[in-house]
Amino acid sequence: MHVTATTTAPAESGADTIAVGVFSGEGVAHDLEGGALGALLDAGEARTRFRHLAVAHADGLRWILVGLGDREAFDGERARLAAHAVRVRAAELGTLILCWEIPHHVGADVVAGRGEGTRQSAHRVDRVKAEPGGGEDERPAQLEHLILSAHHDVADAGARAAAITEAQNAARDLQNRPANDLTPTALADRAAEIVATVPGLSLHVAGREELEGLGMGSFAAVAQGSAQEPAMIVLRHEPGGARGPVLAIVGKAVTFDSGGISIKPAGGMADMKFDMSGGAAALEATAAIARLGVPLRVITVIGATENLPSGTAVKPGDIVRAMDGTTIQVDNTDAEGRMVLADCLLHARALGAERIIDLATLTGGIITALGSVYAGGFFSDEDWAQTVLGAARAAGEPVWRMPLHERYAEAVKGRYADLTNAPAERKAQAITAAEFLHHFAGDVPWAHLDIAGVANDSGLSYMGHGGAGWGVRLLVTLAESLAS
Ligand code: BES
Ligand code: MN
Ligand code: ZN
Repeated sequence: MHVTATTTAPAESGADTIAVGVFSGEGVAHDLEGGALGALLDAGEARTRFRHLAVAHADGLRWILVGLGDREAFDGERARLAAHAVRVRAAELGTLILCWEIPHHVGADVVAGRGEGTRQSAHRVDRVKAEPGGGEDERPAQLEHLILSAHHDVADAGARAAAITEAQNAARDLQNRPANDLTPTALADRAAEIVATVPGLSLHVAGREELEGLGMGSFAAVAQGSAQEPAMIVLRHEPGGARGPVLAIVGKAVTFDSGGISIKPAGGMADMKFDMSGGAAALEATAAIARLGVPLRVITVIGATENLPSGTAVKPGDIVRAMDGTTIQVDNTDAEGRMVLADCLLHARALGAERIIDLATLTGGIITALGSVYAGGFFSDEDWAQTVLGAARAAGEPVWRMPLHERYAEAVKGRYADLTNAPAERKAQAITAAEFLHHFAGDVPWAHLDIAGVANDSGLSYMGHGGAGWGVRLLVTLAESLAS
């Protein structure tokens, strides 16, 4: 789908369908001659209730009136939700070119939300099916072109939103690929593809031998059970005239998490292909940051591996050594994410990180605590916490702050080694996992986002099933705020 912005009136935009939003207590901003749209409101067929839809045919065009609810409550997220509702109806009606009339006096987030919601909503997960979207009769028309029409020039907001949405949808595509296709090296191939097309990015991929050579015994231990080559994917964005601190983005990319020798139950295991979601968001967000030319130095470190049981797999009780010499006793091979991230965090610090944010589908515990609405956020530094939470709010990717405490850190101390990867007491597992990572972040202001509940199938209407590309908007917004 193609997205463009225009200041020409919707009716002259060339669209076959025009979406007009109406706030509570307000009328239709620009009615047709004869007042056909206002009449629909008066008749009660169109309503201002959020997401209410009505369709009219007038002046040789199709009009979709959508209720936007209270103007004060309307934000980027509501814009995405309304855009989805309209997109679904438009598709049913056979719309090929849709024009959204942007209301007066709305912020850039609302403009962006229209474009984002429409494009995310139109994104498909069933493209490998012989008949995507079902049979001939069920298959809706595919929207070809979205036009954002406003009185003022929204081209900049539109272009930024398009770049971010493209990245977010690319992350979703990576998430949705099955583990037999998206192996760690396939993810590294995607990184190479990005670097080849986006100027100002450089790439280094370390395989098994190099991980071992670097002393990354914790990461390597997870990878040793799989025949697939692991990949530590390191991207660097070093623009001229960079401002602000060096940002490190660290992502967990376990392309399949069977649990290893501490194997998971069969039910639902297929969803463990999504255990690379943090890495996918880190990768595509880095691409968007570079494409948008954000003047900030960014180091992205993605730990990609499978976690499988085999004759060479790491075993419960094994002791391994991370790059800084910390010894780790592996009490549960299913607590693999923190082992991968330990070495990635150390590597980011070795490369000069001044702020760190990691994204990981790290624990089932965060799903119990927060479900699919908020990601859990853990912070070692107050200023950094406020910066990250602010970016999360601005991006419409909500993060709920979780605690760190010395007494939680006690729980990850090992009996035979410095640390255990899985405390014996099964409580506060999302927090003890965070404390494990905290050890490796050291003094660098660090934020950890546990995205296990929000990464996929989070129930947002405009996302549908599968990967949600969660974190891409937040990371781009965060980079922009650090550079400003
Ligand atoms: N990838 C899982 C966490 C997860 C669970 C993500 C469900 C999405 C849905 C992680 O590697 C894991 O297995 N964590 C364990 C840790 C435990 C063994 C200490 C967990 O949370 O149960
Ligand atoms: Mn696991
Ligand atoms: Zn995992």
